[in-house]
Amino acid sequence: MKDLDIFEALDLIPYPLAIVTAGDPKAVGKRGGMTVAWLTRVSWNPPLIGVAIAPTRFTYELIREYKAFAVHIVSKKLENLAYGVFGSRSGRDIDKFSASGIEPIEGRKIKAPIIPLSPVILECEYVDEFRTGDHVFIVGRVVDAYKGIDENPLTFYRGASAEVKSI
Ligand SMILES: Cc1cc2nc3c(=O)[nH]c(=O)nc-3n(C[C@H](O)[C@H](O)[C@H](O)COP(=O)(O)O)c2cc1C
Repeated sequence: MKDLDIFEALDLIPYPLAIVTAGDPKAVGKRGGMTVAWLTRVSWNPPLIGVAIAPTRFTYELIREYKAFAVHIVSKKLENLAYGVFGSRSGRDIDKFSASGIEPIEGRKIKAPIIPLSPVILECEYVDEFRTGDHVFIVGRVVDAYKGIDENPLTFYRGASAEVKSI
């Protein structure tokens, strides 16, 4: 048995790579999105997912205001934007969609900006939230799901992306 530093060990868990968006798709200043890795399914039926978001994020404010969010699993097409604009800039300073050259479309069941360049798009209604240390765990009910493009998802592992081979 080899001891691991706790933080190093937690980095050895493979995480998903996704962009969570919220707000009004047509209103600059009231729409946003951020890259997340701490995302997981939490209930089979009803279909619930949870995401840990730092309360300082602009996207968190939008999720609370609009009571909805969309999850976009990231593949090659959105990879650079996930690390760049969506994962490192604040939506308080820039409109990330304009900065990315993306015109978001309306959600089918919820009010949230949808980026069609993702292989798995989940529309979620806000259900609940819990303070978990320095993050807030937001639970959403998946009310619609569809595929924007045909690419394999990426995972986030040890600070970099790895491609999942089948979907
Ligand atoms: C690969 C990657 C994974 C991330 N995962 C999370 C996460 O799970 N939770 C979180 O709060 N922030 C996460 N972040 C940081 C946010 O995406 C980043 O702070 C973002 O700029 C917040 O934008 P906003 O303030 O406009 O919402 C991640 C960033 C990257 C690059």
